[in-house]
Formats: sequence, structure tokens, C-alpha cells
Amino acid sequence: MEQTDDLKQKAEELREQLLYHNYRYHVLANPIISDYEYDQMLRELQELEHDHPELITPDSPTQRVGGEPAEKFERVPHPAPILSLANAFSKEEVSAWLDRITRLDPQVAEEAFVVEPKLDGLTVVLHYEQGVFVLGTTRGDGEFGEDITSNLRTVRSLPLRIPVGQRTIEVPDRLVVRGEVVIFHEDFIRLNSERRQAGEKEYLNPRNTASGALRQLDPSITAQRPLSLLCYAIVDSDGDVPTTQWELLSYLRELGFPVTEESKYCRDLQEVFQVIDKFSEERGNLPYEVDGMVIKLNDLPLAAVLGFVGKDPRGAIAYKFPAQVVTTYLENIEVNVGRTGVLTPYAVLEPVEIGGVVVRQATLHNFEFIGDKDIRVGDRVEVKRAGDVIPYIIGPVTAARSGKEVPYTEPERCPSCGELLEKVKGEVALYCVNAACPSQLIRNIEHFASRGAMDIEGLGIKIAVQLVESGAVRDASDLYTLTMEDLLQLEGFGEKKAANLLQALEHTKERSLSRLINALGIRGIGEVTASDLARSFLSLDRLKLVQEEELEKIEGIGPNISTAVVDWFAQPRNKSMLGKLKEAGVWPEEKPAEGTQDQPLSGSTFVITGTLSGITRDEARELIEERGGKVTSSVSTKTSYLVAGESPGSKLAKAQELGIPVLDLSGLQRLAGIE
Ligand code: IVH
Repeated sequence: MEQTDDLKQKAEELREQLLYHNYRYHVLANPIISDYEYDQMLRELQELEHDHPELITPDSPTQRVGGEPAEKFERVPHPAPILSLANAFSKEEVSAWLDRITRLDPQVAEEAFVVEPKLDGLTVVLHYEQGVFVLGTTRGDGEFGEDITSNLRTVRSLPLRIPVGQRTIEVPDRLVVRGEVVIFHEDFIRLNSERRQAGEKEYLNPRNTASGALRQLDPSITAQRPLSLLCYAIVDSDGDVPTTQWELLSYLRELGFPVTEESKYCRDLQEVFQVIDKFSEERGNLPYEVDGMVIKLNDLPLAAVLGFVGKDPRGAIAYKFPAQVVTTYLENIEVNVGRTGVLTPYAVLEPVEIGGVVVRQATLHNFEFIGDKDIRVGDRVEVKRAGDVIPYIIGPVTAARSGKEVPYTEPERCPSCGELLEKVKGEVALYCVNAACPSQLIRNIEHFASRGAMDIEGLGIKIAVQLVESGAVRDASDLYTLTMEDLLQLEGFGEKKAANLLQALEHTKERSLSRLINALGIRGIGEVTASDLARSFLSLDRLKLVQEEELEKIEGIGPNISTAVVDWFAQPRNKSMLGKLKEAGVWPEEKPAEGTQDQPLSGSTFVITGTLSGITRDEARELIEERGGKVTSSVSTKTSYLVAGESPGSKLAKAQELGIPVLDLSGLQRLAGIE
């Protein structure tokens, strides 16, 4: 009994910690522990819950992913209507709105406003009972929504329990919050670049991607999309909640909900207009997509008294920004060659201004898109610029056609090297498979040197172009045989710059194996898979001989990646490059990791307690982990040994009760093979 209580408390502590650190990471963007520490803690909780399933709670961070695929979404009633907003397209229309509602209730004239970004995402309604997230729905028709709880649990910034952390703020027993699920620009760009490299179709825009992800029946797919949440309203509650919008935003923030940083308090309409002007200008700098600003009366009871017109509350209005869509002339369609040989078409446009920026090029996503939309060279096309995202073509204005437009045909040969192009079965992308293609080589060198790979300071795309075009670099290994003379021939290189680059290169010879594997630029291998491969194979000498079946034993590696790896190492060009890297001393090896069979402590789980003499607990933990053992914090039947120092406390009693062997420091050292 006592043991169960202890375990229950341990699980609760871990959950509390994990929820808090998750919040620091995903909501505050200000983590105070490393990802490694977080993962260790999560693993500990997973193990505990695995052994004691009765300890699992719906708000456990282990439950974010793992919901079963649904057959369909259940329809559920909203506790109050989920209203929409009337639109205003000019300041005059905003003034007219204010005049109207002031006539209805003169008190409005005295009131302040809150101006918030109008997030272009998907409305969600989140139900909390006793502080625990129990239900999440879509907006649906405003009266009924669809139950997408399992999908919403995967959204990292959504608090599974409130208040987050050990705050004392009181939470109503029942609280229903409204927010918007969005994808931040930077996450969207990263997602698409990963898809491009994997030969998959790119997503068209963040909103539809977020919406598609939330509507997945299988939550494990939703979990792979970088969704974020931002909250702005309370729909229902049975406790005291703030009565002004400004306080409400702080209150939500206090509870641990993500809330936009950009909302502003305005004393009068003049201030509202100033805020709107500022945001119109800076719209592109916001981290998410907005299609306007929402102006809300700060006094919520007053807003409620004003009532609605149809489904639109009178107490708030959406000021819509002019759409950042223009039409221009499509001069040509050109093609980019990426580092894995993927070809991406882009539009060369007659320069046009959108939202203060001159746009000359726009992405066309992929060749299928051009065909689907029937985009022709010479067309007038609609171009959209959404925030920071690269401008994209929406489609042709067919009514403006003169008949001289030229339908586009996919290239047969690589625009950079002239090699015949290939299509991979099941993928939409066209590939140039010539490993010596200069465009690919430049991108490859850029990737090799990038921060997540070998991190070669000062080597960016510009220098990569120079190195390849001058003929000094024909593959990445040539970087390590560059000489001062080679570099001095390049434009813009003096002795100092050349020496700096040579020194930066020298520094990177010691980079880890996982960085080097990532740097090789094998299709489908990013930072995460590279590190899995490094841990499993420990050296390139072993990895280069590996067969598909062995690779597929690693979680997350399927037939596409395993074939790509084996093919890569089979290419004579790559073999020769690896030979040259080895010769240059760029040949890192990974230390065997914990759990490897030939380690003295592998397979054993330790708990450390009490004060050990001459060694700290952290040092003892390192000692154990370095030799393949695992350290957890609570004693259970899975514990192999308890390492006990002075004043061991209740853990010693428990270990003895369970018949677990107890070691002192010298016992541990003997077991670990240390004299
Ligand atoms: S308040 C009574 N605030 O815009 C409350 N809505 O066009 C009405 N939206 O359906 C909504 N950001 O999904 C509000 N800061 C914000 C918003 C926001 C985006 C969405 C919301 C609504 C739509 C109306």
C-alpha cells in the first residue's frame, strides 16, 4: 500500500515537472532544462506507467500521442454558441460600428478596447474539468462541434492541466476556453523544406495544413505536424473569471495558456487606429499568419448586453487587412535544383509590389501544381504574399488570356547539368540523379557546412558557389585539402579570410559521427535519423557495409530511407569521397551507448540513494551510464541494484523489502569493472 502511494506520488511529481518544462519550452520559448533531461524524465514516467498502468492519468504528458485512430468524430454540443465576427474593411466602417453601438448603449462611449491579431487558423473549444483537459472540439456550425480531443492533445503548447506549474491561482471547476490552432511561419517553412527533400508534395499554406492535420482520424499523423495554439476567450465557466478582456488575457496567460504577445489595450478609437496602422505595416513580421485585427470592447458584461446580429456579437468587430494578393505577368517558369537533386519550379514575374515588398519570383510548389492549375507562361497570375512566407502563385487569371500563352512542359533534362531526369515511384518530384551536377554540388556543400551538420563557420551559399565554380571543390572531401593558394584565387578572399576559413575547417575535423552522417546529405536522413544511425553503427566503416534489412530494424527507418542509404554508399563517387575524408582525418567514431551488450553494466537498472563518499550522485550516475547501465529515481521490481551511501532513507527499506541487492560505492566500482 505504502509503495503504491509512493509510486503514485513519484508519477505525480514527474507529470508536474514535465508539464511545467513543456510549458517553458513551447509556450514561453524559455526552457531551463536540456532536451536530454526532459526526455530522460519522460522515459522514467513512461516506464513507471508501463509497470503500473493504473497510475496513468488523462493529463499525463505521455498521453499526448497514442490515442487510437477514430472511425469518425463525434458531434458534441457547445456550452454556449461559438460566435463569429462581423467584418470592417476600412476605418470608416469601424467608426460606423462604434457609432451604432454607442447609440444602443451610451456607456460604450466611455469604454476602452482591446485590439488583437486576427489569427488565420482553426477555432477550437477546449474544456477543462477540475483543471484537467477533458474535451476539445472544432467550431463546427457554432452550436455543435466535432470531438477532436485526441488530436488536440498532440498540440504541444496546449496545457493538459491548469494552472501549469506550482502556481496557487484558483481555477474554476469547469472552464471552457476558445482559441485558434495555427502553424507558425518558421515551422511551416521547415516542414515544407523537409517534405521537399523527401520528394513529397509541399503544403500550400499554414492554415489548410493545420486544418487538415486536426481533421486526421489518426492522431499519430496529427502529432507529426507542428501545430500551435493561441487562446483569446472564455466560452463558459462556473467560477469567477475576469470581466474585462484585458484582464482575461492575463488570466489565461497566468493559467498557462498560450496567448499572443501582440494584443494591445487602447483607451479610445484613435489609439485603436494607431495600433491598426502599426500592424498593417508590420504584418509580415508576425510569427503567424493574420488576416486582420479584432477590436473588442474591454468591458465584457457590457459587450454581452449589446447582444448579436445574426451570429455576430455587437461588442467586437474584425478589421480585415487588404488581401496581400495582386496580379502580375508570368514571364517565365524556371527550375531550381536542390541538394538531393529534387527539382522545384518557380515563377519569374514582372516585378510587382505586395504589401510594401517588391516581388520578382514566387514558388510554384511542384510540377503537378502547374498542370493542375493549367498555369501557362505569359499568363496573368494571382500572387499571394503571406507574412514571411515566400510568395506563391495562386493560379492564372484565365479571363485575361490572349491566346498567346504557352502551356508548360516539364523538363526532360536537368537545367544545371543536362542529365536526363528521373521520377521516383510514388513521389511527385522530378530528380536529377547526376551526383556531379554542379547545382546539387553547391547545395550539398552548403548543407555539409550548415549548422546542424559540420557547422563550418563562414562557409555559406556564396562561398559554396565560388568553391564549386572555380573547380577547387568537386565533392565535400575536397574542402579538407583546400590550400591558401586555392582560396586566394577566389574573389573577395584575402589572406585573413582564407586563413579563417582554413582554420574553421580544421576545427570541424573533430565533429561527431552523427553530424558527419547528416552532412553527407543522404536523401531522407536529417539530424534525428543521422543520430540514430550513429548510435547504432558507431562508425562509417560499419555503416557503409550495412544492408537494408538491418537498417529497417531501427525505429523510424522504412524501405525508402534504407534503400537511399545503401544506394548512397554503393555509388563509386561517394566511396571515393569517403576514402578522401578518412585520409584527411575526418572519420569520427561514436562511443558505444548505454544498453550495448558488451558493456559491464548493460541491462541493469540502478537507483542511487544517500551520500556516497568521495563521489557525487551525478558522478555516480555518469559512471553507471558510461558503462551501459541505466539510472532511475525510484525503487521498483525493475531495479537491479540500489547503490546506497550514508543516510539512505526509505529507498533502502524498500529495496530490502523487494529483495533488491544493495551496493556501496566499492561494490558498484567492482561491478563496473573499475579497480
Ligand atoms: S473573438 C465572440 N478573437 O476569427 C468572440 N476571434 O471571423 C468572437 N479569430 O471565428 C471571436 N483571432 O475563429 C476572436 N483574437 C481573436 C481571433 C478570432 C481569430 C477567428 C475566430 C472567429 C473568426 C471570425
